[in-house]
Amino acid sequence: MSPDSPELVPRPPHPLALALIERLRERSGALVLEVGAGSGRNTRALTAAGLVVSALPVKRSCAAALTTHALLHGTPASIASQLDAIADALEPGAPLFATFASVRDARYGRGETLEPHVYAVPDGDEAGVAHAYFNDECLRALLEPRFRIESMRETGVDDIAGTWAHQMQPLRGAVHWFVVGVRR
Ligand SMILES: C[S@@+](CC[C@H](N)C(=O)[O-])C[C@H]1O[C@@H](n2cnc3c(N)ncnc32)[C@H](O)[C@@H]1O
Repeated sequence: MSPDSPELVPRPPHPLALALIERLRERSGALVLEVGAGSGRNTRALTAAGLVVSALPVKRSCAAALTTHALLHGTPASIASQLDAIADALEPGAPLFATFASVRDARYGRGETLEPHVYAVPDGDEAGVAHAYFNDECLRALLEPRFRIESMRETGVDDIAGTWAHQMQPLRGAVHWFVVGVRR
């Protein structure tokens, strides 16, 4: 099943989706930007909490943004341009809840090196797909121009990122950053 396929068994929302819902608990009807919704587990939880979810918002219209296990594909430059688009969509002071791949992930360094900290594995579900990994310093440098970082913690995500998205090679030792930032 691809990450975008409908779920046969409903999956629980991501912990960062639950954190976003808690953060906006006083703002029913607020607009939330979601990037890389996949099968929609987070979209459903946000909507059920009374929030309005959009993938294509107008400038400065969103009260928060959520992106889980999507901004790991690409290069630091392509991820930076995604973060620019997200920042443009957010009200000043609005929170971003996001994950990024960590250099402590077991897949770091595997496959072809496309540029420093960017690799593409030759086989499996994600053959040939560029993955960008960040250490603390590089992730702060990526985020700081657009967001004030509230929290950044590395988390083992084998059971969170989605076994459904890695059916040929289940995740083992996947470590991602969980970030909360506030748009400057
Ligand atoms: C592993 S799934 C995660 C889906 C969902 N966020 C979740 O946590 O269940 C990755 C999703 O991100 C999308 N995606 C991958 N790279 C992306 C990128 N650079 N920008 C936006 N979406 C991306 C994929 O199409 C897919 O929907």
